[in-house]
Amino acid sequence: MIETIRDRNDLVSLVSEYLALKKSGQNYTGLCPFHSEKTPSFVVSPVKQIFHCFGCDVGGNVFQFLMKIEGFSFPEALERLAEKGGVPLPASSPRRGEGPAVREADQIYQLNEAVAAYLHKNLLEKPEAARATAYLKERGIDAETINAFSIGFALPRRDDLLKHFGKTFPVSLLEKAGLVSKKSGEGPSSGEADYFDRFRNRVIFPIRTLQGKVVGFGGRVLDDALPKYLNTPETAVYTKGKHLFALDQAKKKGARSLIIVEGYFDAIMAHQAGVHNVVATLGTSLTEDHLQLIRRIAEKVTLIFDPDDAGVRAALRTAPLFIEKEIAAEVVSLPSGEDPDLFLRKNGKGPFLKRVSEGKTLIDFAISKFIEASPLKSIDDKIKVIKETFPLLEKLKNKIEQSHYLKALSEELGIEEESLRAEFSKEATKKKGAPFPKNLTKAPSAPKPDLPQDEENIATFLLQGQLDPSALTNRIDLEDFTDPRIKRVLSHFWDDQTGWRRPSGRLDAVEETEETRALVTRLSVREIWRDIEDVGQTAADSISRLRAKRVQRKSGEIQKRLKLAEKGGDLSLVKSLQQEILVLKKSRVI
Ligand code: UTP
Ligand code: MN
Repeated sequence: MIETIRDRNDLVSLVSEYLALKKSGQNYTGLCPFHSEKTPSFVVSPVKQIFHCFGCDVGGNVFQFLMKIEGFSFPEALERLAEKGGVPLPASSPRRGEGPAVREADQIYQLNEAVAAYLHKNLLEKPEAARATAYLKERGIDAETINAFSIGFALPRRDDLLKHFGKTFPVSLLEKAGLVSKKSGEGPSSGEADYFDRFRNRVIFPIRTLQGKVVGFGGRVLDDALPKYLNTPETAVYTKGKHLFALDQAKKKGARSLIIVEGYFDAIMAHQAGVHNVVATLGTSLTEDHLQLIRRIAEKVTLIFDPDDAGVRAALRTAPLFIEKEIAAEVVSLPSGEDPDLFLRKNGKGPFLKRVSEGKTLIDFAISKFIEASPLKSIDDKIKVIKETFPLLEKLKNKIEQSHYLKALSEELGIEEESLRAEFSKEATKKKGAPFPKNLTKAPSAPKPDLPQDEENIATFLLQGQLDPSALTNRIDLEDFTDPRIKRVLSHFWDDQTGWRRPSGRLDAVEETEETRALVTRLSVREIWRDIEDVGQTAADSISRLRAKRVQRKSGEIQKRLKLAEKGGDLSLVKSLQQEILVLKKSRVI
């Protein structure tokens, strides 16, 4: 059954739900979702249905990918993939592994999806939604966009959702999903009467995950009432600062760079205007979680922000994050008082894209802001600007970029480049060893296991089907391999009774330690052609060398026993051991 579920779920499509993959030879590559990196070292093999990251050395199959990315247990991953692949799990199948938290999340997603559909229908069909329809029309949103974003309307009633969903879903779930609240100041709850709808008389925007699941909602009033927007409170699936509005739409359109705006209407209007790589932070400033999401699909972003003080400060605050995550970031500001929504309505797509293309890099922007804020009269003023800029430049991993900005800074400040560079190196040395202040996930050092070359070669060739196990018969045995990790992998190619054989079943599916599994996936997707010209010759050479070592080791052992036999005066044993050595020596020549 596990095999069937596995076969019904293509790993490439599953992974593509979480990050952008590019075809590269036989395989697909992308930026690893499990650690920070700039160049893709995450490889998915469609043929072998395994993944491996050469950066952080993790790997596995479709189950392990889902477990790792969603934090599922094996039974949870199994159930999810069975559902996806349309494989019915036997009713008796244990759901033990399913933690209560995951079940609750799934239930909330299910409820949210139904609520989004219902509110969308409200907007389209209910007479009471006339004002909302008029409002959207006034703001220039067309019917196609209303559908694409499944924009909805929460009726001006205190218990519409409660009534409609209270029958099919437990009220406690509606509460957990942040859709209803309990009336305050009353005694212990005794049913529906104690609750009321959170969203009333508001235009509703469902907020979705990268995969399109509804995590929550934002609702806007139709007039100047406050608060202007009401969002889903923290729930098991919705956390402020973790989601990006319209990211699912951008991904659907294959966006590889993103434009980041603040508001719902900004993003929606951009998509309507045909700019499909726009996402919105929903009023919060960008967080590390946002960046983690962004790099799943994009290597470059453009931030559009309010040119007011708060907007500038917010943009500057994100600079270290972008530098550390190695995402190229540019900033664009619009004319004062205009947000992307207004700008697009006034000027259209062309001028909008032109603005975007004229973005400044975030560091250039930061430097220009530091300079703007300084009278730049005395040398102390200049030193202050330098002190503000250095911490950003120090974080740059690319030395060429670093050098570029040092030069630019020296020109802007009218300071000799040489002395600025000298000061920069001095500061850098001072700080060396001091870790970055924040809790940013640094790329785990790639623990490339240091394996004996010949043993690694043979394991690779066997795993990649380039070498038939029978080629090892009568040459070397499993015990002739010295590395315990390789031995563990090769034990699947070995039978104590009959010797070398093809493994039964797929190796990556075998219950193994994470370390062995990573070794299996690494060797399986390793691109041999990059460092080995002639596989046949390399295999033969490796086998010979291992064979020679075997002979050496064996003859050493026999010599030892021979000495003992000679001491003990056991003549017949001496003779037979001498014979064995002869045979060994001969075999070495072969
Ligand atoms: P803005 O106040 O800039 O509004 O908030 P906007 O998006 O331009 O709204 P419109 O055009 O008047 O409709 C930007 C974003 O901040 C969040 C929302 O996500 C909004 O889109 N916000 C704003 C809230 O969550 N609550 C609020 O009360 C206001
Ligand atoms: Mn606006």
